Parts: sequence; structure tokens; C-alpha cells
Amino acid sequence: MEFLEKLKEYIDITDKGLDRYLPKEDVYPEILHKAMRYSVFAGGKRIRPVMLLASCEAFGGNADRAVPFACAMEMIHTYSLIHDDLPAMDNDDYRRGRLTNHKVYGEAMAILAGDGLLSWAFELMAKESVKNPLGIRAMAEIAEGAGINGMVRGQVSDVINENKEIDEDTLKFIHNNKTGAMIKASFAAGAVLGGAGEEDVNKLIAVGENIGLGFQIQDDILDVTGTFETLGKPINSDEKNHKTTFVSVYGLERSGQMAENAFKKAENILKEISGNSDFLIGLTKYISKREC
Ligand code: IPE
Ligand code: IPE
Ligand code: MG
Ligand code: MG
Ligand code: MG
Repeated sequence: MEFLEKLKEYIDITDKGLDRYLPKEDVYPEILHKAMRYSVFAGGKRIRPVMLLASCEAFGGNADRAVPFACAMEMIHTYSLIHDDLPAMDNDDYRRGRLTNHKVYGEAMAILAGDGLLSWAFELMAKESVKNPLGIRAMAEIAEGAGINGMVRGQVSDVINENKEIDEDTLKFIHNNKTGAMIKASFAAGAVLGGAGEEDVNKLIAVGENIGLGFQIQDDILDVTGTFETLGKPINSDEKNHKTTFVSVYGLERSGQMAENAFKKAENILKEISGNSDFLIGLTKYISKREC
């Protein structure tokens, strides 16, 4: 199957899964479920679920059994975006091409919709893990990526360093954690669910670290070079905390090279896994050229 066809297939099964697993809008309290669905179905790229499903299949695992975990990953990611956009954090008005959650539902409901997505994701994975023991390790990888050893601590470092001169280590810490950790977890959880051995899981963790870093460097670059139409979010919005972006520390050109290096490293590691890396290599190239 062609790469783009397979990519579409993974996105479709994720979207169907999300619709199946999320509470319907007419369930009381309707406002909560509407707010959760509003941001989940606003048109995200679904790259984390794709990474998870493809990593599972690369080792001969059954993607259907990984769908709840892929959907959980997207719910957690969406919660992180809802909270990232809040006035207390980045204070952004647009996300995924539409008004941010708090602009439509108010701050209290946006906070609660995020809380709801986060805990529902773990409920879904925990229930699935009763049937699939590999799920427990996958869930642990996802918890680590989302929590205080991952995305949350990255966001904290981003917030406390706003408008400060930061050194290279801090910049890397922010990027590796606020964005890299969730991407790393997608690869790791997928490999675990696919039945990969320890050595391969570690290789996919390294792949995720590199793609995660490259991905957030691109996010910083696109914030300067992109357009609202393609990104669906305001450009130059990181300007208010411009000290914590790769572009502000290294400039556009160097940042571009650093992102490219990170993707190249990921590709080289993928060539060495024992599973089938064709789609994952294709995905790495595809992401490295992204414009949205
Ligand atoms: C945006 O992530 C925020 C970051 C962590 C860089 P994505 O670029 O994956 O956003 P969506 O999911 O496609 O909206
Ligand atoms: C946030 O990074 C990443 C998250 C953990 C949500 P940014 O604040 O740079 O993400 P955007 O630019 O708002 O998507
Ligand atoms: Mg932010
Ligand atoms: Mg932001
Ligand atoms: Mg950004």
C-alpha cells in the first residue's frame, strides 16, 4: 500500500475510534461532552495515534487492539492543547482553525473538558488492559510521557522561563518534555503493544526522542514562517514567550538544520529495528517536510 493511503487508513481508524469512545453530546451534562468533542474533532493531524498504530504494526502487532491506546493518546494531547491555550498559559484565541475551547465554552468548562479527556483516556486504557496485559506497560509509557516526567514538567519549565534568557540545556529540556515526551511515548507504547522485545522498544524510544525534538523545533519555525490558514493557529504567538523557542536562540537557519539532523538520526535508528520499518521511515520523511 502507498504511504499516503496507509496514513489515511490510520487516521480514519483513529477518528472512528474517537467517535466511538467519547461520550455522545446528548449525554448529561451535555456541555462537558460537547466541549470535549469540540476540540477533539477540530481537525488535528493525529500524528501521535499514527505513530502508535504504525509502531505496533511494525512488529507484527494487531493495530485494531491498539486503537483504544491511540485514541487515548489523542485525547491526552488534545487536553494539553486546551490547557496550553488558556489565558493563564499561552492565552491564544485560535486552535486547529477554530476558536479555542475557552473562547467558546468559558474557562471553567475548558479546564474541566481537559480534565475529562485526561482521565477518560486512562479509564479507557485501564479497561482495555484487563483484556490485554501488554496494555499495562503501554499505559505506563503514556503516563510517563504525559505527566510530571514528561509534558507537564516541560510546560512548567516553559512557563517559569517565560521572558528569561535561557541556556541551551534548558531549551532542550523544555522541548524534549513539553512535546518530545508525548511523541516518544507514542512510539514506545506502540512497540510494546506490537510485542517488540526490549532492544526494539529502546530503539523506538530513541526514534521518538529525535522526532519529538525535530517536531517542536519545526513548531517554533512554523510559528514564524507559517500562515494562520495552514496552521489553524495564530502565528508569532510564541513571541510573548519568545525566549523559549529554538528560533529565538539559534535563528531560523540553524534551527532548520537541527530539526533535519534529528529526523535523520531517527531514520538511521529505524533502519536497524528488527521489525518492518518501511512505513515509519516514510512517516519520518513526511513529518520532516511538514508545513502544518
Ligand atoms: C501542536 O501539536 C502542539 C505541539 C505539541 C507542538 P500538533 O502540531 O500535533 O497539533 P495538532 O494535533 O495537529 O493540532
Ligand atoms: C505546547 O507548545 C505544547 C504542548 C504541550 C501543548 P506550544 O505552546 O509552542 O504549542 P502551540 O504553538 O500553542 O501549538
Ligand atoms: Mg505553550
Ligand atoms: Mg501554545
Ligand atoms: Mg508553538
